[in-house]
Formats: sequence, structure tokens, C-alpha cells
Amino acid sequence: MATATVTKKPRSTRSTIALKLLMAVTGLVFIGYVLLHMYGNLKAFGGQESFDAYAEHLRTIGEPLLPYSGLLWVIRVVLLVSLVLHVYAAYTLWARAGKARTTKYAVTKRVNSTWSSKTMRWGGTALLLFIVFHILHFTLRVVTPGGDSDSPYERLVGSFQIWWVAAIYLLAMAALAMHLRHGTWSAAQTLGLTNTASARRNANLAGYLLAVVIAGGYSLIPVFVLAGVIS
Ligand code: HEM
Repeated sequence: MATATVTKKPRSTRSTIALKLLMAVTGLVFIGYVLLHMYGNLKAFGGQESFDAYAEHLRTIGEPLLPYSGLLWVIRVVLLVSLVLHVYAAYTLWARAGKARTTKYAVTKRVNSTWSSKTMRWGGTALLLFIVFHILHFTLRVVTPGGDSDSPYERLVGSFQIWWVAAIYLLAMAALAMHLRHGTWSAAQTLGLTNTASARRNANLAGYLLAVVIAGGYSLIPVFVLAGVIS
């Protein structure tokens, strides 16, 4: 008589998978947001009127159904919840990996994977610090290098005319590129999209494409302000 053996995954393995899924899904929310935000930022090439009209439009979308800034608040809440969950999952998995590893890695493949996880962990932490700085800078206007103004365009241009502000943003975009590159690959792996050679190639390509388009697109603004093209 044939017997069926049901192998049940241990609880910690199941919760590790759940945490990885949480990271992948919240990561996809961020990819959607950074793509839209980058597209909006490119309005700076259209000049002050175009950029300021876009910033105001963000606040009036959905009126009168939604109150002023209503949609913006929905986006802020979704982003904040996603950020808390993404960071919680990342640090929990980080702590778990630390506990599980008792011996040093010996094989090359493993060494590569620790290099990737190191860039994800420290790069992710750098991005977290950047987001705090960025919100204090452009949204709350607590940090106002280059002077304060009610015009978002004037704040943008005034800030990036200062080399070290531009440098902070460009460094953050380099961290974002690395995070997007590897994050896309990890998300694809978690979602079961790397099972064949061609699927792995596509996942890799998607990671590089997102990194170049998003981080490159954002970087255009500080670079062109520094070069005096946007002024
Ligand atoms: C060179 C890169 C970037 C530039 C020039 C830039 C520019 C801006 C500006 C001008 C605002 C204020 C918009 C307004 O109040 O109307 C803003 C807000 C914001 N940015 Fe960025 N941004 C950059 C990169 C990023 C990245 C990489 C992220 C996310 C990882 C991000 C997330 C946010 C968030 C969450 C807000 C607050 C939106 C709000 O609640 O009002 N930004 N950004």
C-alpha cells in the first residue's frame, strides 16, 4: 500500500517566506512610486511654471470628491505603512541570517551572495536615512539649504546649486540603483519568477533597466542644475 508523506515546513521557514513576500510586495509599491515621482520631477525641465503647477496638481487631484491634498495623504499613508513593513521584514531577516550562520562562507557563490546582502542591508539603511533627510528638506522644509521659498521649483533649483546637496542626492541615487538592481532580482526569486534560464535573464534585465531608468532619471535634475541648464 502506498503511503503519502506530508512534509510540513517548520514555522520559522514559513515565516521567513512570509517576510520575503512582504518585502517583495512592498518593494513593488516603492517601484511604482519612485517611477511616478521621477516622472513628476522631470517637469523641472519645463521650467518653474510647469513644475509648480505639477506640485499643486498633486494636491488638487480628485477634488471635490476628495479634500485638498486628499490623494497625497492616501499615498503618504500607503508609503509609510509599506516602509514600516519593508524595514521590519528586512531587519528581522537580517537578524535571523546572523543567528543561522555559525561558520564563515567558503564557496564563491556564497561569498557573492553575502556581498549582495551587504549592499542591500547597508544600502537600504543609507536610503532610509536619505528618505528622512529628503522629507525634512523638501516636504517639511526644516532643512533649507539654498533658502526657503513657497515655490517648489525655487527650492529644488536653489538646493542643487549647492554642490554638497547635489552630491548627497547623487550618492543616494547610486544607492537606489544598487538597491533596485538587486531588489528586483530578489523579488522575482521570491515570486517564483527565476525558475528557467530565460526567466532569470529577464529578471536580471528588469533589475538593470529599472536601476538605470529610475536612478538615472532622478540624477538628471541635480546634474542639470549644477551644469546651469536648469536655473
Ligand atoms: C534626485 C532625486 C529626487 C528629487 C529631486 C526629489 C524631489 C522631491 C520634491 C521636490 C518633493 C516635494 C514635492 C512637493 O512637495 O510638491 C519630494 C517629495 C518626496 N519625495 Fe522626492 N525626490 C527625489 C528622490 C526621491 C526618492 C528616491 C524617493 C523615495 C525613495 C523620494 C520620496 C519622496 C517622498 C516620500 C516625498 C514626500 C511626498 C509628500 O508627502 O509630500 N524622493 N521629492
